[in-house]
Amino acid sequence: DKGGYKHFMAKEIAEQPTVIAEAISSYLPAGSDSVQLPGETIDFASIDRLTMVACGTAYYACLTAKYWFEQLARLPVEVDVASEFRYREPPIPARTLALFVSQSGETADTLAALRYCRDKADKILSVVNVPESSIARESDLALPIHAGVEVGVASTKAFTCQLSVLLMLALKAACDRGMLSPTAMADHAAALRGLPSALNAALDQNDTVRAAAQKLSEARDVLFLGRGLMYPLALEGALKLKEISYIHAEAYASGELKHGPIALIDQQMPVVVLAPRDALFDKTVSNMQEVMARKGKVMLISDADGLSEARDGVWSTIQMPHVHPSLTPILYAIPAQLLAYHTAVAKGTDVDQPRNLAKSVTVE
Ligand code: M6R
Repeated sequence: DKGGYKHFMAKEIAEQPTVIAEAISSYLPAGSDSVQLPGETIDFASIDRLTMVACGTAYYACLTAKYWFEQLARLPVEVDVASEFRYREPPIPARTLALFVSQSGETADTLAALRYCRDKADKILSVVNVPESSIARESDLALPIHAGVEVGVASTKAFTCQLSVLLMLALKAACDRGMLSPTAMADHAAALRGLPSALNAALDQNDTVRAAAQKLSEARDVLFLGRGLMYPLALEGALKLKEISYIHAEAYASGELKHGPIALIDQQMPVVVLAPRDALFDKTVSNMQEVMARKGKVMLISDADGLSEARDGVWSTIQMPHVHPSLTPILYAIPAQLLAYHTAVAKGTDVDQPRNLAKSVTVE
């Protein structure tokens, strides 16, 4: 049931404030500022290393979480795509926690990677949407993401629910490892509880994003740029656009621009820049100016402060509310998803069932 929406994807994008609120309240119960895991708990103080493995969008959720675990919990993290990890057969040092992220819980490569880690890692943890799935069953501890059934082949609400659960796990790791004071943890908890209303404000930008997508739908290639937490989100934005609009899209870490991709920039090339006004903003803006100096068309997604500082010469802007810096990947996922969605609608492609793709990849 599409619940009045034209596509499941539109419905699933709109559901995010609700399902994320559920995910948050199940790991951060009302009245408490400490993260609680269902079932047996994990003590991150006894872990020296985290290895995260997944495919596609779930892999980008892991790449985002690497920034959180490293910055908040000072825990070294390795992230890999399951198809590489399983055949590379990497050594797994003692005191490693292996973490697998999968919406379906049935992705063949991710499951094989989990089985490879079975007798090698200290613990096998998974972050899944389907609690009775193979990956959930074969884990020591499976953490549900509470997204509800996701029908659209292009993952949306599962991605942001994965991010929310991974952020709360990183916060727990930070507390376990003595890296986060109770006051700082309380700040994070309050920010998380305010996230659903910020997500609603982002959804309110739907008409602006639709107009921006109209322009994007004429492009042959699109580049996405981001730094820090916005880099994995740039990868996700490019994947979403490719999957459903069939426009060739690539993402780079902004700092990589001058190491090659800048050669692609001309007046035909839209460049989507994901840049909240954070500590890395000025650096991204200077990359953006390099693009504009070569007549590239910049679509800047930022908050009011960022836009007022850097909108000169920009082709198109999308304004996001201001949130705690840790939450930006979850919030900025909304315009990235809406941009892909409206571009696909403008092009008339099959949004929910894109060609050549399956919802669950159970063969390698
Ligand atoms: O079910 P999983 O999360 O393991 O699926 C992983 C990928 O196949 C999936 O995220 C895929 O990339 C989606 N089509 C992305 O929109």
